[in-house]
Amino acid sequence: MAGTLPPLNTEPVFKKIQEYYNAHSQELVIKDLFVKDPKRFLKYSLRLSTPKDGEILLDYSKNRVNEDVWPMLLELARVRRVAEARDAMFCGQHINITENRAVLHTALRNRSLDPVLLDNKDVMPDVRAELAHMKEFTNQVISGVWRGCTGKQITDVVNIGIGGSDLGPLMVTESLKPYGKGLHSHFVSNIDGTHMAEVLKKVCYETTLFIIASKTFTTQETITNATSAKTWLLEHAKDEEAVAKHFVALSTNKEKVTAFGIDSKNMFGFWDWVGGRYSLWSAIGLSICLSIGFENFEQLLDGAYWMDNHFRSAPFEKNAPVILALLGVWYSNFYKAETHALLPYDQYLHRFAAYFQQGDMESNGKFVSKSGKPVEYSTGPIVWGEPGTNGQHAFYQLIHQGTRLIPCDFIAPAQTHNPIANGKHHKILLSNFLAQTEALMAGKTSDQAREELTKAGLCGNELENILPHKIFTGNRPTNSIVCKKISPFTLGALIALYEHKIFVQGIIWDINSFDQWGVELGKQLAKAIEPELDNCDEISSHDSSTNGLINFIKANWK
Ligand code: F6P
Repeated sequence: MAGTLPPLNTEPVFKKIQEYYNAHSQELVIKDLFVKDPKRFLKYSLRLSTPKDGEILLDYSKNRVNEDVWPMLLELARVRRVAEARDAMFCGQHINITENRAVLHTALRNRSLDPVLLDNKDVMPDVRAELAHMKEFTNQVISGVWRGCTGKQITDVVNIGIGGSDLGPLMVTESLKPYGKGLHSHFVSNIDGTHMAEVLKKVCYETTLFIIASKTFTTQETITNATSAKTWLLEHAKDEEAVAKHFVALSTNKEKVTAFGIDSKNMFGFWDWVGGRYSLWSAIGLSICLSIGFENFEQLLDGAYWMDNHFRSAPFEKNAPVILALLGVWYSNFYKAETHALLPYDQYLHRFAAYFQQGDMESNGKFVSKSGKPVEYSTGPIVWGEPGTNGQHAFYQLIHQGTRLIPCDFIAPAQTHNPIANGKHHKILLSNFLAQTEALMAGKTSDQAREELTKAGLCGNELENILPHKIFTGNRPTNSIVCKKISPFTLGALIALYEHKIFVQGIIWDINSFDQWGVELGKQLAKAIEPELDNCDEISSHDSSTNGLINFIKANWK
């Protein structure tokens, strides 16, 4: 495994980049860089030739980088020993040091015959056996061989899980709706009873399959929701035997699954080396299989596997995850950008940003280095976003004219699954994507704005007063990722691209991207508060704000 790294800000190359930034950042005006170098697009873009569903183009030329800074950023990846760390992950070393676990979600999509050794044992036979189980079950449900307790075919699938046991399956199921095989997918994650109540209104107990997805099978929200779903089923079916026909579990915890009342035959397993937010490739993907069919799920794995190989073999200057990661570091650590926007121009990808909010923020939202020392530089950004063009009419104003620098990734498919009105909608959608990245880069100067206003008939004070509001400073960085269409293969590759980007950044920042202790404290306190809501006593055991809130809720309970 790669040894201990010095603090990032003490690396000589980091200091060199800082000096360069201090002296030259004002000169990095993207539109001028294009004028100076007609080959800029070719130099700062990558065409990824995938074996299926067309190429993927990564255009990172609309960034504040030039031939001075880019080699230094690449050097930073080298000195932080990204290649060694990457190989350690793929080879099953226990890189999740705070939990003493390997990080091997890549084995779940290892489509070769090569073994993947974990503590000298090949994990692939178990991975393949679980995939075979998923395939058999998926085919049985979709074909109607698997039936509900009254003999009716399953029509609705309700995935009950939260965090990684919800967001991945939900995002992929939504993204690949055009590949749907006919079952209706529903997702219940929130402990708010409204989430469950609204889904139960839409389904019939005789034709509904509940998938209880929980790595630990101890997550309060999931177990509470699963228990309520089971009560609902039994109220209708009035037969304990019905559970075996309507409940399956996806988990690493056989004991808890059995204790819940789900037969281990109806359990799909995975392992502690699969992190929750990296688990859609495992049994947690069962709701994806049931939605799009097993063959399409395999294509998703194939796409991710292709990206894994690209990440493992491409030199850093042609390595898409490394490129995205370095650009993120450049803006986070030098420009002090606090957020990063993911903006898919594809309605089916409407949960993509939400998915990578967990993927990125749970992975890299850490303030101590691997050795436990507070870091003196910023780590993971705030990740957010919505699909275009909706976002344009909501928050793009701030991206264009606000005071903060917000690096954005635009993701767009050249082809739509729904070419309605002769493809007119898609042409408008793509024009907007292209226009936004151009506008963010080029901006609008005072002279240009003045000319426009004059043409519109304004002059004198009227023109001078409005003029400052019409100026766009521009020089706002974007990446554009364009694929032929969002297919299972392409989506698998895109997800793996971002997973590896997050990995590379975690290595550069020297943090453990694979634990999530930050979610524990709130869980602990909620457990202490719950019994306090049970009685009528005035609560005084917390700070006065928390006491005041609890007492107000109790006074208004009924
Ligand atoms: O939010 C913390 C977390 O542990 C996530 O990492 C995980 O995806 C989620 O809870 C759900 O956990 P489980 O699959 O064990 O129910």
